[in-house]
Amino acid sequence: MKQIGRCRAHTNIALIKYWGKRNNDLFLPMNSSLSLTLDAFYTDTSVTLDSKLETDEFFLNGTKQDKDETKKISRFLDLFRQTANSEVHAKIESYNHVPTAAGLASSASAFAALAGAANTAWQLNLDKQTLSTYARRGSGSSTRSIYGGLVEWTMGEGDISESSHAIEIDDASWDIGMIVIAINKHKKKLSSRVGMKLTVDTSPFYPVWVTEAKKDLIAMKEAIKRKDFIKLGEITESNGMKMHATMLGATPPISYWEPDSVKAINKVKEIRNNGIPCYVTMDAGPNVKVLCRQSQMSDILDKLKESFTNDQLICSAVGEGIKQLTDT
Ligand code: DP6
Repeated sequence: MKQIGRCRAHTNIALIKYWGKRNNDLFLPMNSSLSLTLDAFYTDTSVTLDSKLETDEFFLNGTKQDKDETKKISRFLDLFRQTANSEVHAKIESYNHVPTAAGLASSASAFAALAGAANTAWQLNLDKQTLSTYARRGSGSSTRSIYGGLVEWTMGEGDISESSHAIEIDDASWDIGMIVIAINKHKKKLSSRVGMKLTVDTSPFYPVWVTEAKKDLIAMKEAIKRKDFIKLGEITESNGMKMHATMLGATPPISYWEPDSVKAINKVKEIRNNGIPCYVTMDAGPNVKVLCRQSQMSDILDKLKESFTNDQLICSAVGEGIKQLTDT
């Protein structure tokens, strides 16, 4: 009998960013980060163990992937094989559920879903916290996608892999949502992995970034405790801008911004100045994400539609953590 694991994981957007590793092999971050899991974007993955296979086979959205792509997945699955003391290969089938205009295919949901499916396939029964340390080894941001709501990825200590894991901070059920303004769906010019390493290695602002991110995290956790949405938004916007400022200090300078990113940021400011609290954050690409109150989303959308097309605007509620999928 074949052993199968199936899992769904949602993507997450960092409100306090992760940008830099202290250990590149173990994906240990320079600072703790905090994110919001999104309902609108997710990956479904199945892992089928098959003793007849001589190598792993990886299918993404129904298309068999080449050797290089499959190798990345195989290396990740080796972590589970080691733990299970197994040598069996697997067929991996992944489907990204991301609105086409968004260009938000995310390594965060991908590795979290793969970790969840592998955990079931190899019958390891790892708890969520432990599983988050495995997901981390595929892509740092996927550490946080194991849980729903507001999630902290704690940086941990030294080179101790188990100490750097995700923690669920709050279920974010206090009227929070996010609108993604899709500026451009092309693949990023510079991957996060390469961009963050260049920033750590060359930006003179990097030590300041780490100090600021630590302060911002403390202040944000206080704001979350008080359910203070305005403070949450202000820290989100400020922290994202500080990350991008730090990148600009790299040699050569890194910028993911496009003219329409600036247009989106200015539009959000205008909406805010007219009395609706909403705040921007950006990652390693030109898309702008707007943190807002779920109840005010339609008012904000009406204003954003003055500058952007319908298919550029994607609304999301708060997402849940990984869940095992059963046969349908
Ligand atoms: C800007 O998790 O994609 O989105 O760990 O090298 O795979 P690797 O990087 P990745 O970086 C995400 C960077 C970010 C900020 C964040 O999500 O915290």
